[in-house]
Amino acid sequence: MKLKNLNGKVVLITGAGSGIGRATALLSAQRGAILVLCDRDEAGLNETAAAARALGSEVFAQTVDVADPAAMDEFADAVHARFDTVDVLINNAGIGVWCGLLDTRPEDWDRQLAVNVKGVVHGCERFLPRMIERGRGGHVVNVSSAAGYMAAPSMSSYSVTKFAVFGLSQVLRMEMRPHKIGVTASCPGPTNTPIIRTGPVRGANAEERADNVLSFFQRTGARPEKVAKTILRAVARNRAVAPAGFEAHALYYASRISPPVGRWIAVRWAVMANKG
Ligand SMILES: NC(=O)c1ccc[n+]([C@@H]2O[C@H](COP(=O)([O-])OP(=O)(O)OC[C@H]3O[C@@H](n4cnc5c(N)ncnc54)[C@H](O)[C@@H]3O)[C@@H](O)[C@H]2O)c1
Repeated sequence: MKLKNLNGKVVLITGAGSGIGRATALLSAQRGAILVLCDRDEAGLNETAAAARALGSEVFAQTVDVADPAAMDEFADAVHARFDTVDVLINNAGIGVWCGLLDTRPEDWDRQLAVNVKGVVHGCERFLPRMIERGRGGHVVNVSSAAGYMAAPSMSSYSVTKFAVFGLSQVLRMEMRPHKIGVTASCPGPTNTPIIRTGPVRGANAEERADNVLSFFQRTGARPEKVAKTILRAVARNRAVAPAGFEAHALYYASRISPPVGRWIAVRWAVMANKG
């Protein structure tokens, strides 16, 4: 099913308190959607909810950690007490850790797997059964990354979690097809959001690299509003994969046509990002 018109549709977005999630929430509001938003950051979530309401959207917002199964159960109960089901589920919440594999700490693995992978699983588990039961289709967007189809050095563990989300989205798309529920892996390239500031940078010269990577993302990253457009376009066209931005497209086609060229580009970009 292609969801071309969001007017009156219920769109759920996790991690809606900042960056790509916020931009997608506000674009959906402009297109007439009813919004269900969550984030673990209450202040950011409230800001997005207020901005969406100012655009005329009905909004239900709840502070939730997507990694916490019990909190996600409560959230799903609250959502289903208000709405039959959601029409579009956007599993966007995510975090990053910026370093190579050997500098990655056990707690980095645990937290990224819990948020980036299990958070997406929790969203699918709690909202898909009702979408299926209603029998009128719908759409799921799982926010992976360009680092989810081309390994990204210096973002090793992040890249592993985003490959998982990419694979999960492919298999879910096949499984949901009989239910007329589309599934998209959204794959942005570098995007100018606070994600670099909030995730730890580890390894040699970590402080200097943190500044460099931040300035690289600020200078070259796409605007989150542009990524939001690619997300809603992918919903409207029922795309399996939605790269966003020049880098993501370059890496996507290179990864399909010539993986060695893709790996060369990925290494060059990592070097450039670490140098600023
Ligand atoms: N910014 C980029 O360059 C980029 C590129 C590719 C993919 N992505 C992905 O896009 C998604 C959004 O990232 P962003 O760049 O907008 O970052 P961001 O930091 O601006 O926004 C992420 C939001 O998710 C929320 N969040 C984090 N952990 C959470 C949790 N456990 N439960 C609930 N909410 C949680 C944060 O509070 C924040 O509001 C992430 O999945 C990220 O991996 C980002």
